[in-house]
Amino acid sequence: MERSRFQEKGRFITLEGGEGVGKTTNMAWVCDWLSARGIEVVRTREPGGTPRAEAIRELLLDPTSDEPLDDDAELLLVFAARAQHLAQVIRPALARGAWVVCDRFTDATFAYQGGGRGLPVERIATLENFVQGELRPDLTLLLDMPLAAARQRLAARGSAPDRFEREREAFFTRVRKAYLAQAAAAPERIAVIDAAGALDEVQARLAQRLSTLLETPS
Ligand code: TMP
Repeated sequence: MERSRFQEKGRFITLEGGEGVGKTTNMAWVCDWLSARGIEVVRTREPGGTPRAEAIRELLLDPTSDEPLDDDAELLLVFAARAQHLAQVIRPALARGAWVVCDRFTDATFAYQGGGRGLPVERIATLENFVQGELRPDLTLLLDMPLAAARQRLAARGSAPDRFEREREAFFTRVRKAYLAQAAAAPERIAVIDAAGALDEVQARLAQRLSTLLETPS
């Protein structure tokens, strides 16, 4: 498929979902799908994506410290990392016409810090406007599956749980609920992808959404 004259501006795609929904595998697949169509793809992630933002990620995920992390401090760290990532990677890539595919973005903040931690949505929205201005993803692929199945996949991975993965089931129930509510409120941007089935079925759904975006004038 050739890129039409419409695909001249970079697009911003984010992948979201709870722990264990298959984000890593599908991230790689999305990037390959776009690259195969002649698109310059910048693959990145949050929190992180630059050396300084990755250092903030360490602070956020490190489960070993005895000092609890205050919820507001957590929120501000997430947005500090995001400001750095936007300045160094995301905005420059979009400006030169590349497509940015980001593993998590601000929908994760609404889901984890808003839904999970219970921080007020307005506080998050204020920081979103402050840090991002008008920038929002063009498309968000929300990988969704029942919690029990996702927890099973996570356990099968066998790696040491980070600070978020150590949270209780109720936390992840709230995270999932918040993600689905966000998708219901912005169906034109957020596509809920049933991630519970076979990988080729999941990827057929992803391809459908990506094709639609590709055909939409920027
Ligand atoms: P990852 O392991 O999927 O890359 O994500 C790291 C963790 O960071 C994940 O548990 C979700 C969490 N997170 C937030 O709590 N808020 C955010 O805004 C982002 C981007 C991630």
